[in-house]
Amino acid sequence: MAKRIFVTATNTDIGKTYVTALLMKAFTKKGYKVGVIKPVETGVSDGVYPDGDLLLRLLKELNPLAWSLEVEDIVPISYELPAAPLIASDFGEIDYAKIDHAIMQQEAFCDVLLIEGAGGLYVPLDNEVMMIDLIQKVDAAALLVTHCSLGCINDALLSQKALEAQNINYATVFNCKADDKSFEEVSAPYFRATAKEIFKSASDIDTLCDVLYNL
Ligand code: GTP
Ligand code: MG
Repeated sequence: MAKRIFVTATNTDIGKTYVTALLMKAFTKKGYKVGVIKPVETGVSDGVYPDGDLLLRLLKELNPLAWSLEVEDIVPISYELPAAPLIASDFGEIDYAKIDHAIMQQEAFCDVLLIEGAGGLYVPLDNEVMMIDLIQKVDAAALLVTHCSLGCINDALLSQKALEAQNINYATVFNCKADDKSFEEVSAPYFRATAKEIFKSASDIDTLCDVLYNL
């Protein structure tokens, strides 16, 4: 089994795909063979998978063993409505065997498998399963991507507490964007006072790879 790393976030549009791509490149530079899946993507229409297409393209650049994969191998389940899977599927069932199959297919040729969630931890997949439960179902460690704007203390802590309540091993990364300049002044002091380290996307990505691999 490859090292499975489930990339989740405090919400949608925070930077899961961005950080997943950084990790794929950084793990490759370190000599690992990478794989990637996005088990469920919504907002897929006319054959365009906003995340799946990007991840597949990058995967083929980084790992030649993935040459024959198609986007449906990266994204085994997709829906057109850009909504939580439970809503996008009109309260349907998720076929978890398809997700297991996609994982197995790539684990035949990768050492590290990045798995990008949809939205945040409490996004409903079906009537019983939330995104956070899928992390356990696929036996992965988690990377929580958080934003850096005012409010990130609350958002990060809520997600961290949820992960801890389900005994999921995780690391946290701050994905600061250009307009997040206040982070060091208004939010980072809290994390520096209470956590051992703050990892920032891009600048700390190499260290983060090592931390994640050992979770
Ligand atoms: P969903 O999968 O739709 O839930 O979103 P996501 O969490 O994967 O977010 P994504 O990585 O797609 O990032 C959202 C938007 O912010 C995209 O347009 C990214 O290009 C942009 N973005 C993400 N991280 C950064 C960053 O660090 N810097 C800049 N400038 N843009 C970023
Ligand atoms: Mg994404």
